[in-house]
Amino acid sequence: MSDDRITYDPRGVMLPQHGLTAEDLSALAPRLEAARQEVLDDAQHRIAGSEVPLSKQPLDAGFHLLPERLLTEFREEMVFSEDTADSELAHIHVAAGKLREQVDRVIVLGIGGSYMGSRALMEALCHPYHNQLTREDRRRWPRVFFAGNNLDNDQTQGLFDLLRRGERAEGVDERWGIVVISKSGGTLETAIALRQFINLLRASVDDDPELIGQLVVPVTGTSGKLFDLAQALGCQDIFQVPEGVGGRFSILSAVGLLPAVLLGLDIGQLLAGAAAMNEHFSTAPPGENVVLDYVGVCHAMETLRGCNIRVLSTWGSQLEAVGLWYDQLLAESLGKQEQGAVPLTVVNTRDLHSRGQQHQQGKRDKLITNLIVDEPQRGPLAVGTSEHDQDQLNSLADKTLPEVLSAAIAGTNQAYRDDNRPTADLHLPRLDEHVLGQLFQMLMLATVVEGRLIGINPYGQPGVEAYKKNMNAILRESSS
Ligand code: PA5
Repeated sequence: MSDDRITYDPRGVMLPQHGLTAEDLSALAPRLEAARQEVLDDAQHRIAGSEVPLSKQPLDAGFHLLPERLLTEFREEMVFSEDTADSELAHIHVAAGKLREQVDRVIVLGIGGSYMGSRALMEALCHPYHNQLTREDRRRWPRVFFAGNNLDNDQTQGLFDLLRRGERAEGVDERWGIVVISKSGGTLETAIALRQFINLLRASVDDDPELIGQLVVPVTGTSGKLFDLAQALGCQDIFQVPEGVGGRFSILSAVGLLPAVLLGLDIGQLLAGAAAMNEHFSTAPPGENVVLDYVGVCHAMETLRGCNIRVLSTWGSQLEAVGLWYDQLLAESLGKQEQGAVPLTVVNTRDLHSRGQQHQQGKRDKLITNLIVDEPQRGPLAVGTSEHDQDQLNSLADKTLPEVLSAAIAGTNQAYRDDNRPTADLHLPRLDEHVLGQLFQMLMLATVVEGRLIGINPYGQPGVEAYKKNMNAILRESSS
Protein backbone atom coordinates (compact mmCIF):
# COMPACT_ATOMS: atom_id res chain seq x y z
CA MET A 1 0.00 0.00 0.00
CA SER A 2 1.10 3.56 -0.59
CA ASP A 3 1.72 5.95 2.30
CA ASP A 4 -1.98 6.70 2.65
CA ARG A 5 -2.27 3.32 4.33
CA ILE A 6 -3.95 2.81 7.65
CA THR A 7 -1.66 1.70 10.46
CA TYR A 8 -2.09 -0.15 13.73
CA ASP A 9 -0.02 0.71 16.78
CA PRO A 10 -0.45 -1.76 19.67
CA ARG A 11 2.29 -0.34 21.93
CA GLY A 12 -0.31 0.80 24.45
CA VAL A 13 -1.24 -2.80 25.27
CA MET A 14 2.33 -3.66 26.31
CA LEU A 15 1.81 -2.81 29.97
CA PRO A 16 3.58 -4.20 33.05
CA GLN A 17 0.27 -5.32 34.53
CA HIS A 18 -2.97 -6.33 32.81
CA GLY A 19 -1.32 -6.01 29.40
CA LEU A 20 0.52 -8.24 26.94
CA THR A 21 4.14 -9.13 26.31
CA ALA A 22 5.87 -9.44 22.95
CA GLU A 23 6.07 -13.20 23.64
CA ASP A 24 2.28 -13.43 24.05
CA LEU A 25 1.90 -12.03 20.55
CA SER A 26 4.69 -13.95 18.85
CA ALA A 27 3.29 -17.20 20.28
CA LEU A 28 0.06 -16.50 18.40
CA ALA A 29 1.74 -15.86 15.04
CA PRO A 30 1.59 -19.45 13.66
CA ARG A 31 -2.13 -19.73 14.48
CA LEU A 32 -2.81 -16.37 12.88
CA GLU A 33 -0.98 -17.40 9.74
CA ALA A 34 -3.01 -20.62 9.59
CA ALA A 35 -6.25 -18.64 10.01
CA ARG A 36 -5.16 -16.25 7.24
CA GLN A 37 -4.48 -19.19 4.94
CA GLU A 38 -7.93 -20.58 5.66
CA VAL A 39 -9.52 -17.22 4.84
CA LEU A 40 -7.54 -16.99 1.59
CA ASP A 41 -8.58 -20.55 0.71
CA ASP A 42 -12.24 -19.73 1.49
CA ALA A 43 -12.12 -16.86 -1.01
CA GLN A 44 -10.69 -19.11 -3.73
CA HIS A 45 -13.28 -21.75 -2.89
CA ARG A 46 -16.04 -19.17 -3.47
CA ILE A 47 -14.60 -18.17 -6.82
CA ALA A 48 -14.20 -21.79 -7.96
CA GLY A 49 -17.84 -22.38 -7.00
CA SER A 50 -16.96 -25.88 -5.76
CA GLU A 51 -19.15 -27.67 -3.27
CA VAL A 52 -18.92 -26.33 0.30
CA PRO A 53 -18.48 -29.02 2.98
CA LEU A 54 -21.25 -29.08 5.57
CA SER A 55 -18.87 -27.98 8.34
CA LYS A 56 -18.21 -24.72 6.47
CA GLN A 57 -21.75 -23.80 5.51
CA PRO A 58 -22.71 -21.07 4.98
CA LEU A 59 -19.52 -19.83 3.30
CA ASP A 60 -20.25 -16.23 2.36
CA ALA A 61 -16.63 -15.45 1.51
CA GLY A 62 -17.69 -13.68 -1.70
CA PHE A 63 -16.99 -10.25 -0.18
CA HIS A 64 -13.25 -10.90 -0.07
CA LEU A 65 -12.25 -10.59 -3.73
CA LEU A 66 -15.32 -8.60 -4.77
CA PRO A 67 -13.44 -5.24 -5.00
CA GLU A 68 -10.93 -6.64 -7.50
CA ARG A 69 -13.67 -8.29 -9.57
CA LEU A 70 -15.82 -5.16 -9.76
CA LEU A 71 -12.85 -2.96 -10.68
CA THR A 72 -11.59 -5.36 -13.34
CA GLU A 73 -15.00 -5.71 -14.99
CA PHE A 74 -15.41 -1.92 -14.98
CA ARG A 75 -11.95 -1.29 -16.45
CA GLU A 76 -12.52 -3.87 -19.17
CA GLU A 77 -15.72 -2.14 -20.19
CA MET A 78 -13.95 1.25 -20.49
CA VAL A 79 -16.70 3.10 -22.35
CA PHE A 80 -20.34 2.84 -21.37
CA SER A 81 -23.59 4.66 -21.90
CA GLU A 82 -27.10 4.43 -20.51
CA ASP A 83 -27.90 1.58 -22.90
CA THR A 84 -24.63 -0.30 -22.73
CA ALA A 85 -23.75 -0.39 -19.06
CA ASP A 86 -22.76 -4.04 -18.66
CA SER A 87 -20.51 -4.03 -15.64
CA GLU A 88 -21.99 -3.58 -12.17
CA LEU A 89 -20.12 -0.33 -11.55
CA ALA A 90 -21.21 1.17 -14.88
CA HIS A 91 -24.79 0.15 -14.14
CA ILE A 92 -24.59 1.76 -10.69
CA HIS A 93 -23.23 5.01 -12.17
CA VAL A 94 -25.90 5.11 -14.85
CA ALA A 95 -28.79 4.36 -12.48
CA ALA A 96 -27.57 6.88 -9.89
CA GLY A 97 -27.08 9.49 -12.61
CA LYS A 98 -30.66 9.00 -13.84
CA LEU A 99 -32.07 9.30 -10.33
CA ARG A 100 -29.98 12.42 -9.71
CA GLU A 101 -31.61 14.13 -12.67
CA GLN A 102 -35.10 13.24 -11.46
CA VAL A 103 -35.18 13.69 -7.70
CA ASP A 104 -33.82 15.81 -4.88
CA ARG A 105 -34.37 13.26 -2.10
CA VAL A 106 -33.82 9.54 -1.90
CA ILE A 107 -35.21 7.37 0.88
CA VAL A 108 -32.90 4.40 1.46
CA LEU A 109 -34.84 1.52 2.99
CA GLY A 110 -33.00 -1.37 4.62
CA ILE A 111 -31.93 -2.77 7.98
CA GLY A 112 -28.80 -4.38 9.46
CA GLY A 113 -26.25 -5.14 6.78
CA SER A 114 -28.58 -3.60 4.21
CA TYR A 115 -28.36 -0.21 5.93
CA MET A 116 -25.42 0.26 8.30
CA GLY A 117 -22.78 0.47 5.57
CA SER A 118 -24.38 3.23 3.53
CA ARG A 119 -25.05 5.23 6.67
CA ALA A 120 -21.39 4.79 7.68
CA LEU A 121 -20.27 6.01 4.25
CA MET A 122 -22.54 9.02 4.36
CA GLU A 123 -21.52 10.11 7.84
CA ALA A 124 -17.80 9.54 7.32
CA LEU A 125 -17.39 11.02 3.87
CA CYS A 126 -20.13 13.54 3.13
CA HIS A 127 -20.47 17.07 4.37
CA PRO A 128 -21.72 16.70 7.97
CA TYR A 129 -24.84 18.67 7.02
CA HIS A 130 -25.27 17.17 3.56
CA ASN A 131 -29.07 17.09 3.71
CA GLN A 132 -29.24 20.75 4.73
CA LEU A 133 -27.05 21.99 1.86
CA THR A 134 -28.51 23.53 -1.28
CA ARG A 135 -28.78 21.31 -4.33
CA GLU A 136 -25.89 23.18 -5.95
CA ASP A 137 -23.70 22.76 -2.86
CA ARG A 138 -24.50 19.05 -3.00
CA ARG A 139 -23.32 19.07 -6.63
CA ARG A 140 -26.90 18.17 -7.51
CA TRP A 141 -26.69 14.84 -5.67
CA PRO A 142 -29.87 14.13 -3.69
CA ARG A 143 -30.46 14.38 0.04
CA VAL A 144 -30.47 10.89 1.53
CA PHE A 145 -32.70 9.70 4.38
CA PHE A 146 -32.68 6.25 5.94
CA ALA A 147 -35.86 4.41 6.89
CA GLY A 148 -37.17 0.85 7.07
CA ASN A 149 -34.62 0.09 9.81
CA ASN A 150 -37.10 0.18 12.66
CA LEU A 151 -40.80 0.00 13.45
CA ASP A 152 -41.06 3.56 14.69
CA ASN A 153 -44.49 5.04 14.03
CA ASP A 154 -43.62 8.67 14.81
CA GLN A 155 -40.28 8.75 13.05
CA THR A 156 -41.85 7.30 9.91
CA GLN A 157 -44.57 9.90 10.01
CA GLY A 158 -41.98 12.60 10.57
CA LEU A 159 -40.36 11.62 7.29
CA PHE A 160 -43.78 11.56 5.63
CA ASP A 161 -44.17 15.19 6.78
CA LEU A 162 -40.91 16.11 5.05
CA LEU A 163 -42.18 14.41 1.89
CA ARG A 164 -45.36 16.45 2.23
CA ARG A 165 -47.41 13.30 2.70
CA GLY A 166 -47.49 12.46 -0.97
CA GLU A 167 -48.80 15.75 -2.28
CA ARG A 168 -48.24 16.03 -6.00
CA ALA A 169 -44.50 16.65 -6.55
CA GLU A 170 -43.70 19.37 -9.06
CA GLY A 171 -40.25 19.21 -10.63
CA VAL A 172 -36.96 17.79 -9.40
CA ASP A 173 -36.83 19.84 -6.20
CA GLU A 174 -40.02 18.28 -4.86
CA ARG A 175 -39.68 14.85 -6.39
CA TRP A 176 -38.22 11.95 -4.44
CA GLY A 177 -37.32 8.31 -5.01
CA ILE A 178 -36.68 5.10 -3.12
CA VAL A 179 -33.70 2.76 -2.98
CA VAL A 180 -34.84 -0.39 -1.21
CA ILE A 181 -32.24 -2.88 -0.06
CA SER A 182 -33.03 -6.35 1.22
CA LYS A 183 -31.05 -9.44 0.32
CA SER A 184 -33.73 -11.87 1.42
CA GLY A 185 -36.48 -9.57 0.22
CA GLY A 186 -38.63 -10.67 3.13
CA THR A 187 -37.47 -8.59 6.11
CA LEU A 188 -40.63 -7.21 7.65
CA GLU A 189 -39.33 -3.79 8.75
CA THR A 190 -38.11 -2.98 5.26
CA ALA A 191 -41.07 -4.57 3.49
CA ILE A 192 -43.63 -2.61 5.53
CA ALA A 193 -41.73 0.64 4.98
CA LEU A 194 -41.54 -0.04 1.25
CA ARG A 195 -45.28 -0.53 1.01
CA GLN A 196 -45.95 2.66 2.97
CA PHE A 197 -43.46 4.79 1.05
CA ILE A 198 -44.63 3.43 -2.32
CA ASN A 199 -48.19 4.42 -1.46
CA LEU A 200 -46.95 7.92 -0.75
CA LEU A 201 -44.84 7.97 -3.88
CA ARG A 202 -47.78 6.94 -6.04
CA ALA A 203 -49.76 9.90 -4.77
CA SER A 204 -46.85 12.23 -5.47
CA VAL A 205 -46.60 11.21 -9.14
CA ASP A 206 -50.32 10.84 -9.91
CA ASP A 207 -49.96 7.07 -9.92
CA ASP A 208 -47.86 7.17 -13.09
CA PRO A 209 -46.61 3.55 -13.40
CA GLU A 210 -43.68 4.49 -15.59
CA LEU A 211 -42.42 7.02 -13.06
CA ILE A 212 -42.87 4.52 -10.24
CA GLY A 213 -40.72 2.06 -12.19
CA GLN A 214 -38.04 4.74 -12.55
CA LEU A 215 -38.16 6.08 -9.01
CA VAL A 216 -38.00 2.80 -7.11
CA VAL A 217 -34.60 1.09 -7.33
CA PRO A 218 -34.32 -2.27 -5.52
CA VAL A 219 -31.15 -4.08 -4.45
CA THR A 220 -32.02 -7.68 -3.64
CA GLY A 221 -31.42 -11.36 -4.35
CA THR A 222 -32.25 -13.05 -7.65
CA SER A 223 -35.55 -14.26 -6.26
CA GLY A 224 -37.84 -13.56 -3.32
CA LYS A 225 -40.70 -11.26 -2.44
CA LEU A 226 -38.88 -8.01 -3.18
CA PHE A 227 -37.60 -9.33 -6.49
CA ASP A 228 -41.17 -10.31 -7.48
CA LEU A 229 -42.52 -6.94 -6.35
CA ALA A 230 -39.83 -5.12 -8.33
CA GLN A 231 -40.89 -7.00 -11.45
CA ALA A 232 -44.54 -6.20 -10.83
CA LEU A 233 -43.72 -2.51 -10.32
CA GLY A 234 -41.73 -2.46 -13.56
CA CYS A 235 -38.57 -1.22 -11.84
CA GLN A 236 -36.14 -0.23 -14.57
CA ASP A 237 -32.99 -0.81 -12.56
CA ILE A 238 -32.71 -3.80 -10.25
CA PHE A 239 -29.40 -4.57 -8.53
CA GLN A 240 -28.30 -7.84 -7.04
CA VAL A 241 -26.65 -8.63 -3.77
CA PRO A 242 -23.93 -10.90 -5.21
CA GLU A 243 -24.09 -14.62 -4.61
CA GLY A 244 -22.07 -15.64 -1.55
CA VAL A 245 -21.94 -12.16 0.02
CA GLY A 246 -23.66 -11.89 3.42
CA GLY A 247 -25.60 -8.78 4.48
CA ARG A 248 -23.05 -7.33 6.89
CA PHE A 249 -20.25 -8.07 4.41
CA SER A 250 -22.05 -6.36 1.52
CA ILE A 251 -20.96 -2.73 1.91
CA LEU A 252 -18.71 -2.94 -1.17
CA SER A 253 -21.46 -4.37 -3.40
CA ALA A 254 -24.42 -2.44 -4.83
CA VAL A 255 -25.80 -2.43 -1.26
CA GLY A 256 -23.31 0.25 -0.24
CA LEU A 257 -22.06 1.42 -3.62
CA LEU A 258 -25.37 2.61 -5.08
CA PRO A 259 -26.15 4.90 -2.11
CA ALA A 260 -22.48 5.99 -2.15
CA VAL A 261 -22.68 7.18 -5.77
CA LEU A 262 -25.98 8.91 -4.99
CA LEU A 263 -24.08 10.79 -2.31
CA GLY A 264 -21.46 11.86 -4.83
CA LEU A 265 -18.72 9.54 -3.49
CA ASP A 266 -15.91 8.01 -5.55
CA ILE A 267 -16.60 4.29 -5.42
CA GLY A 268 -13.58 3.49 -7.60
CA GLN A 269 -11.34 4.81 -4.82
CA LEU A 270 -13.35 2.99 -2.19
CA LEU A 271 -12.83 -0.32 -4.00
CA ALA A 272 -9.18 0.45 -4.76
CA GLY A 273 -8.60 1.00 -1.03
CA ALA A 274 -10.22 -2.35 -0.26
CA ALA A 275 -8.14 -4.09 -2.93
CA ALA A 276 -4.97 -2.53 -1.48
CA MET A 277 -5.95 -3.94 1.92
CA ASN A 278 -6.43 -7.39 0.37
CA GLU A 279 -2.93 -7.25 -1.08
CA HIS A 280 -1.47 -6.17 2.26
CA PHE A 281 -3.43 -8.81 4.19
CA SER A 282 -2.32 -11.66 1.96
CA THR A 283 1.37 -10.75 1.85
CA ALA A 284 2.52 -8.93 5.02
CA PRO A 285 3.85 -11.12 7.85
CA PRO A 286 2.46 -11.01 11.41
CA GLY A 287 4.03 -8.03 13.16
CA GLU A 288 3.60 -5.91 10.01
CA ASN A 289 0.09 -6.92 9.03
CA VAL A 290 -2.69 -4.63 10.33
CA VAL A 291 -5.34 -7.33 10.06
CA LEU A 292 -3.38 -10.10 11.78
CA ASP A 293 -1.91 -7.77 14.40
CA TYR A 294 -5.31 -6.33 15.26
CA VAL A 295 -6.83 -9.82 15.59
CA GLY A 296 -3.82 -11.06 17.56
CA VAL A 297 -4.04 -8.28 20.14
CA CYS A 298 -7.83 -8.51 20.48
CA HIS A 299 -7.74 -12.29 20.82
CA ALA A 300 -4.82 -12.32 23.30
CA MET A 301 -6.40 -9.61 25.44
CA GLU A 302 -9.63 -11.60 25.55
CA THR A 303 -8.17 -15.03 26.26
CA LEU A 304 -5.20 -14.06 28.44
CA ARG A 305 -6.53 -10.95 30.22
CA GLY A 306 -10.30 -11.44 30.20
CA CYS A 307 -10.96 -8.31 28.11
CA ASN A 308 -14.07 -9.44 26.31
CA ILE A 309 -15.41 -5.92 25.77
CA ARG A 310 -13.88 -4.22 22.76
CA VAL A 311 -14.31 -0.50 22.86
CA LEU A 312 -13.86 1.19 19.50
CA SER A 313 -13.04 4.67 20.64
CA THR A 314 -13.65 6.94 17.66
CA TRP A 315 -12.16 10.42 17.86
CA GLY A 316 -14.63 12.42 15.78
CA SER A 317 -18.37 12.26 15.30
CA GLN A 318 -18.04 11.40 11.61
CA LEU A 319 -16.83 7.94 12.61
CA GLU A 320 -19.72 6.99 14.85
CA ALA A 321 -21.68 5.20 12.13
CA VAL A 322 -18.52 3.37 11.02
CA GLY A 323 -18.32 2.11 14.59
CA LEU A 324 -21.97 1.06 14.58
CA TRP A 325 -21.39 -0.79 11.31
CA TYR A 326 -18.49 -2.60 12.99
CA ASP A 327 -20.57 -3.33 16.11
CA GLN A 328 -22.98 -5.25 13.90
CA LEU A 329 -20.23 -6.97 11.95
CA LEU A 330 -18.45 -8.29 15.03
CA ALA A 331 -21.52 -9.05 17.13
CA GLU A 332 -23.47 -10.86 14.43
CA SER A 333 -20.47 -12.73 13.05
CA LEU A 334 -18.80 -14.04 16.19
CA GLY A 335 -21.53 -13.87 18.84
CA LYS A 336 -22.34 -17.56 18.54
CA GLN A 337 -21.97 -20.76 20.57
CA GLU A 338 -21.66 -18.66 23.74
CA GLN A 339 -18.52 -16.99 22.38
CA GLY A 340 -17.60 -13.67 20.82
CA ALA A 341 -16.37 -10.40 22.30
CA VAL A 342 -18.80 -7.54 22.95
CA PRO A 343 -18.23 -4.56 20.63
CA LEU A 344 -18.92 -1.06 21.91
CA THR A 345 -18.51 2.13 19.90
CA VAL A 346 -17.88 5.40 21.65
CA VAL A 347 -17.36 8.87 20.21
CA ASN A 348 -14.82 11.02 21.93
CA THR A 349 -14.43 13.45 23.40
CA ARG A 350 -18.24 13.33 23.80
CA ASP A 351 -18.32 9.99 25.61
CA LEU A 352 -15.40 10.76 27.89
CA HIS A 353 -18.12 12.64 29.73
CA SER A 354 -20.38 9.61 29.94
CA ARG A 355 -18.52 6.30 29.65
CA GLY A 356 -15.03 7.62 30.37
CA GLN A 357 -15.23 7.08 34.12
CA GLN A 358 -16.04 3.39 33.71
CA HIS A 359 -13.32 2.88 31.11
CA GLN A 360 -10.77 4.47 33.43
CA GLN A 361 -11.71 2.79 36.69
CA GLY A 362 -14.37 0.14 36.06
CA LYS A 363 -13.89 -3.61 35.63
CA ARG A 364 -10.73 -4.66 33.81
CA ASP A 365 -12.68 -6.30 31.02
CA LYS A 366 -12.06 -3.79 28.22
CA LEU A 367 -9.60 -3.35 25.40
CA ILE A 368 -9.74 0.15 23.97
CA THR A 369 -8.90 0.66 20.32
CA ASN A 370 -8.63 4.30 19.36
CA LEU A 371 -9.72 5.10 15.83
CA ILE A 372 -7.81 8.28 15.02
CA VAL A 373 -7.92 10.43 11.88
CA ASP A 374 -4.49 12.04 11.47
CA GLU A 375 -5.49 14.94 9.18
CA PRO A 376 -8.87 16.66 9.19
CA GLN A 377 -10.50 17.23 5.80
CA ARG A 378 -10.63 20.98 6.30
CA GLY A 379 -8.16 23.59 7.49
CA PRO A 380 -7.62 23.77 11.27
CA LEU A 381 -9.94 26.06 13.20
CA ALA A 382 -8.24 28.13 15.92
CA VAL A 383 -9.72 28.79 19.37
CA GLY A 384 -9.46 32.55 18.65
CA THR A 385 -9.06 35.61 20.82
CA SER A 386 -11.75 37.51 22.67
CA GLU A 387 -11.86 40.79 24.57
CA HIS A 388 -13.78 38.86 27.28
CA ASP A 389 -11.20 36.47 28.71
CA GLN A 390 -13.21 35.31 31.71
CA ASP A 391 -12.97 31.79 30.25
CA GLN A 392 -9.16 32.24 30.25
CA LEU A 393 -8.83 30.92 26.74
CA ASN A 394 -6.79 33.77 25.28
CA SER A 395 -3.63 31.93 26.29
CA LEU A 396 -4.78 29.11 24.01
CA ALA A 397 -6.02 31.42 21.25
CA ASP A 398 -3.62 30.03 18.62
CA LYS A 399 -4.36 26.42 19.38
CA THR A 400 -6.52 24.72 16.78
CA LEU A 401 -9.27 22.13 17.27
CA PRO A 402 -7.04 19.35 15.84
CA GLU A 403 -4.34 20.34 18.36
CA VAL A 404 -6.82 20.31 21.23
CA LEU A 405 -8.08 16.92 20.04
CA SER A 406 -4.51 15.54 19.90
CA ALA A 407 -3.99 16.71 23.47
CA ALA A 408 -7.23 14.97 24.48
CA ILE A 409 -6.11 11.71 22.83
CA ALA A 410 -2.62 11.88 24.36
CA GLY A 411 -4.04 12.83 27.78
CA THR A 412 -6.58 10.01 27.74
CA ASN A 413 -4.03 7.41 26.62
CA GLN A 414 -1.65 8.59 29.32
CA ALA A 415 -4.36 8.30 31.98
CA TYR A 416 -5.14 4.75 30.81
CA ARG A 417 -1.46 3.84 30.73
CA ASP A 418 -0.92 5.17 34.28
CA ASP A 419 -3.74 2.90 35.42
CA ASN A 420 -2.54 -0.12 33.41
CA ARG A 421 -5.52 0.05 31.06
CA PRO A 422 -4.55 -1.37 27.65
CA THR A 423 -5.13 0.73 24.53
CA ALA A 424 -4.16 0.35 20.87
CA ASP A 425 -4.31 2.98 18.11
CA LEU A 426 -5.69 2.51 14.61
CA HIS A 427 -4.61 5.47 12.50
CA LEU A 428 -6.43 6.70 9.42
CA PRO A 429 -4.28 9.22 7.53
CA ARG A 430 -7.43 11.13 6.53
CA LEU A 431 -11.10 10.49 5.82
CA ASP A 432 -11.47 9.77 2.14
CA GLU A 433 -12.80 6.94 0.01
CA HIS A 434 -9.46 5.15 -0.39
CA VAL A 435 -8.80 5.12 3.35
CA LEU A 436 -12.36 4.08 4.22
CA GLY A 437 -12.17 1.27 1.64
CA GLN A 438 -9.08 -0.02 3.45
CA LEU A 439 -10.77 0.25 6.83
CA PHE A 440 -13.97 -1.57 5.88
CA GLN A 441 -12.04 -4.38 4.22
CA MET A 442 -9.61 -4.59 7.14
CA LEU A 443 -12.40 -4.99 9.67
CA MET A 444 -14.29 -7.55 7.54
CA LEU A 445 -11.10 -9.59 7.08
CA ALA A 446 -10.24 -9.30 10.78
CA THR A 447 -13.68 -10.62 11.70
CA VAL A 448 -13.42 -13.69 9.49
CA VAL A 449 -9.81 -14.36 10.54
CA GLU A 450 -10.87 -14.27 14.19
CA GLY A 451 -13.80 -16.56 13.42
CA ARG A 452 -11.45 -19.12 11.89
CA LEU A 453 -9.03 -18.68 14.81
CA ILE A 454 -11.67 -19.49 17.44
CA GLY A 455 -13.58 -22.08 15.39
CA ILE A 456 -16.73 -19.98 14.85
CA ASN A 457 -18.28 -19.71 11.39
CA PRO A 458 -18.40 -15.91 10.90
CA TYR A 459 -21.12 -16.17 8.28
CA GLY A 460 -24.85 -16.61 8.84
CA GLN A 461 -26.90 -15.29 11.77
CA PRO A 462 -29.18 -18.10 13.00
CA GLY A 463 -30.05 -16.19 16.19
CA VAL A 464 -31.56 -13.26 14.29
CA GLU A 465 -33.84 -15.55 12.32
CA ALA A 466 -35.61 -16.69 15.52
CA TYR A 467 -37.01 -13.23 16.35
CA LYS A 468 -38.13 -12.72 12.74
CA LYS A 469 -39.97 -16.04 12.76
CA ASN A 470 -41.65 -15.38 16.12
CA MET A 471 -42.69 -11.84 15.18
CA ASN A 472 -44.27 -13.05 11.96
CA ALA A 473 -46.11 -15.85 13.77
CA ILE A 474 -47.44 -13.48 16.46
CA LEU A 475 -48.63 -10.99 13.86
CA ARG A 476 -50.33 -13.58 11.68
CA GLU A 477 -51.98 -15.20 14.70
CA SER A 478 -53.42 -11.91 15.94
CA SER A 479 -54.83 -11.05 12.52
CA SER A 480 -56.50 -14.42 11.85
O1 PA5 B 1 -25.82 -9.36 8.10
C1 PA5 B 1 -26.92 -9.78 7.81
O2 PA5 B 1 -27.10 -10.69 6.99
C2 PA5 B 1 -28.16 -9.16 8.42
O3 PA5 B 1 -27.83 -8.11 9.27
C3 PA5 B 1 -29.07 -8.63 7.33
O4 PA5 B 1 -28.36 -7.67 6.58
C4 PA5 B 1 -30.34 -8.04 7.89
O5 PA5 B 1 -31.00 -8.97 8.69
C5 PA5 B 1 -31.27 -7.58 6.76
O6 PA5 B 1 -31.58 -8.66 5.93
P1 PA5 B 1 -32.11 -8.45 4.47
O7 PA5 B 1 -31.08 -7.75 3.67
O8 PA5 B 1 -32.37 -9.83 3.97
O9 PA5 B 1 -33.37 -7.63 4.56
